[in-house]
Amino acid sequence: MRKSHLIWVEISEENLLHNISVIRDLIGNKRKLMAVVKSNAYGHGMLETAKIVLKGPVDWLGVNSIEEGIALRNNNIDVPVLVLGYVPVVSLEDVVQKNLRLTVYNMETVKTLDKIGNKLKKEIPVHIKIETGTNRQGINGKGLSTLLEFIKGSSFVKLEGISTHFANIEDTTDHSYAQFQLDEFKRIEAEFFKNEKSLIRHTACTAAVLLFPETYFEMVRTGIGMYGLWPSKQTKVSCSMKGKKIPELKPVLTWKTKIAQLKDVPDGSFISYGCTFRTTRDSKIAVLPVGYYEGYSRAFSNVSYVLVKGKRAPIRGRVCMNITLVDVTDIEDVKLEDEVVLLGKQGEEEVTADFLAELAGTINYEIVSHINPVLERRVV
Ligand SMILES: Cc1ncc(COP(=O)(O)O)c(C=O)c1O
Repeated sequence: MRKSHLIWVEISEENLLHNISVIRDLIGNKRKLMAVVKSNAYGHGMLETAKIVLKGPVDWLGVNSIEEGIALRNNNIDVPVLVLGYVPVVSLEDVVQKNLRLTVYNMETVKTLDKIGNKLKKEIPVHIKIETGTNRQGINGKGLSTLLEFIKGSSFVKLEGISTHFANIEDTTDHSYAQFQLDEFKRIEAEFFKNEKSLIRHTACTAAVLLFPETYFEMVRTGIGMYGLWPSKQTKVSCSMKGKKIPELKPVLTWKTKIAQLKDVPDGSFISYGCTFRTTRDSKIAVLPVGYYEGYSRAFSNVSYVLVKGKRAPIRGRVCMNITLVDVTDIEDVKLEDEVVLLGKQGEEEVTADFLAELAGTINYEIVSHINPVLERRVV
């Protein structure tokens, strides 16, 4: 990717490795740690992130799509990679050729894998996703038993792992539903998998890693915590309610740009589309070359701020597709191309993903993963 002198995302290698060691300390050395680098590593840059995390105690990588898995392989990353999302039947041979692991929950998928295995004379490891109550991906009951029978009878499709994903573990201090899902997972395991030797069982996302050691099994799958963000306020509260030491997670990402124009705007002038802001004094406005296309949400219009020279510069008017206007009247000595922090720290000030998420009525996961993948990710 071309180095950008205008808009870029800095990734702190030190903070990423710090967070991984925090997670490793929690889970101990016996279990495998999967770094979830799907969705461009939650906006952090998949290849950049993968290369860093593999310098630390990470064993597996988790991606959403076959395209992400292939990109890892094409960049000489050869650790086990599990594709968490759906892979269409026509693409399954590529999964096998690239030695990616698949999450399975359909007969169509495993039957096709069996044929591919036969053709290539190759064993194909799969992980069955167990439906325990999230009711998105996964299988249980009769469907599970038929799927499992087929896999047992196949000479090529090999059951390597079973997994599930919690529906209600992040945004609540009431973990009864997560407990119900964990009990379901154990019940289904006892019913269907009791004779399976050396299965890799994995259920834990970051919130589970922070709160429930009983969810760790043989592997955990962490995303958000690795990026230095808490899954939610409730997770932190739950951590202290359980009397646990609150681990220190350090945000990994800083999003920067430069001032593209400075202008003096008289008192009483409207700023940006829709005339939603009118100056109440003679103002100095800085034009920033980012907008909602780049991932800087329109929801930040008139309510958020960026950092210039370590000070807060409030957003004035609507965030446009590629432009945002900020008020720098109270900041001294601002010049064209001065560095601006959209997300992260500058001096003593910080714009957090949690703060932006609250303004946009969403979660920090969405704020960071919406940063346009075409922007440069720069490891610092
Ligand atoms: C199946 C699966 N496992 C693990 C994760 C990681 O979750 P977290 O980022 O909360 O650690 C995700 C994230 O969405 C997921 O979809």
